Amino acid sequence: MTATLLDGRALATRIETSLQGEVDTFATVFHRRPRLVVVLVGDLAASGSYVKSKAAAAGRVGIDSEVVRVPASATTEELVALVAAIARDEHGPADGILVQLPLPEHVDTVAVLDAVPPDRDVDGFHPENAGLLSQGRPRFVPCTAAGVQRMLIDAGIETAGRHAVIVGRSDIVGKPLALLLASRGPGGDATVTICHSRSSDLAAITRQADILVAAVGRPRLVTADMVKPGAAVIDVGINRIAGPDGSGKLVGDVDFDAVRAVAGSISPVPGGVGPLTVAMLLANTLLAAELRAGRG
Ligand code: GUN
Repeated sequence: MTATLLDGRALATRIETSLQGEVDTFATVFHRRPRLVVVLVGDLAASGSYVKSKAAAAGRVGIDSEVVRVPASATTEELVALVAAIARDEHGPADGILVQLPLPEHVDTVAVLDAVPPDRDVDGFHPENAGLLSQGRPRFVPCTAAGVQRMLIDAGIETAGRHAVIVGRSDIVGKPLALLLASRGPGGDATVTICHSRSSDLAAITRQADILVAAVGRPRLVTADMVKPGAAVIDVGINRIAGPDGSGKLVGDVDFDAVRAVAGSISPVPGGVGPLTVAMLLANTLLAAELRAGRG
């Protein structure tokens, strides 16, 4: 068997096209465009490139954006103060505020993320948004988790009554995705297992998965023997490894070439979940602008 490819790029393009219409309608009604402010701390190449693709995607759908760059030496207090200033619209109207992660090690990441007002938290990381999701009344859902669920729905992969196994328990992906897949309704109603670095006999658990999601940040951790034949395999990992010629190469958490021969469907890296994460961020930014406009 060769698995069906889950093309995240193509789906993201369709989502962007539909968002473009909604953003234009917003602009016509409110005489302004939704606006996203991104805080980029330091000069990590990967973070710089993610932020660039977020800003480019925003531009394509008609969302204004600004990237506020801060040196890696910035302190927690300085970053909290910066986010507070952005929330007072001192960097222009900020419907959505996003602090690109990871932050430098000396920074208290939780303190900085908590400074983002929950009604502009387009990453969905604030405890208020995490709480709303856990209670089944989502507002801003973390973008990667939302993207994975959207990919499953779009591909017609049934989740109801199926066993979804998520490898990875992060606040950004694993935990919110588990809540989404277990929630009631389309793309939900699954039986969900979360595995992590302390799980014993990981392969015995992943082999039970009808839907297997790898979100641990370990290059090619999921091998073919860990996959049930015909399963849907979603690869959230984005790992940079040294290629054969010494250049950087992007690989996922799944051993793609081997797993492709076993799985029923599989998302590639790059071109799988990544573009959907960006598309979901745009959707959250429009939602943030609508919520703010609605409140007048
Ligand atoms: N770094 C890697 N993924 C993410 C994400 O989804 N949001 C933010 N803010 N930073 C990230």
